[in-house]
Amino acid sequence: MTLVSVWLHLLGVVAWIGGLAYQAHVLGPAARRGDARVFAETARRGRPVAWTAIAVVAMTGFYNVTRLGALERVMASGAGLLLAVKFMLVLAAVALAAQRDFAQVPRLGRALAGGEDPGAALRRIAWLDRLVLLLAVGIVYLGVAVSRA
Ligand code: HEM
Repeated sequence: MTLVSVWLHLLGVVAWIGGLAYQAHVLGPAARRGDARVFAETARRGRPVAWTAIAVVAMTGFYNVTRLGALERVMASGAGLLLAVKFMLVLAAVALAAQRDFAQVPRLGRALAGGEDPGAALRRIAWLDRLVLLLAVGIVYLGVAVSRA
């Protein structure tokens, strides 16, 4: 069961962060140089996938915590502290992802529908994506460190 949970945890991470990286590094730059409609549509359609993946990562993550072993050993090994820092970074990443998906992506859609310049929304999305990806680099390191502590 522990193995299945860590496996699902990592599949969720790959789906969420991989999808975001593709949007941020491939589709986003193309949208800023030309037509933003494909990006807007992809970002909108990607939302259910990303948030399902986030839910899987969070649920399996909490389950993984229960499988780490005795609390004294978890604290003595340093895993408890690593986990606390990781959890704060995850909260920040999820908050930024929510701002992207539920505020800026709809804003981009409205700008395109109204014939306005989508540049401001695209730039905000690009910054939010960079921040989430940067946080993910640290979160993955902490996850691996917790596993081996
Ligand atoms: C509610 C949020 C989360 C919690 C409570 C959580 C908890 C955990 C725990 C307890 C482990 C250790 C599993 C084990 O060794 O048995 C782990 C591993 C890991 N987590 Fe998370 N996690 C969360 C979110 C995330 C996120 C958002 C990412 C990446 C963006 C991530 C990436 C990883 C990675 C890469 C591992 C290492 C797996 C391994 O090396 O075996 N986690 N997580």
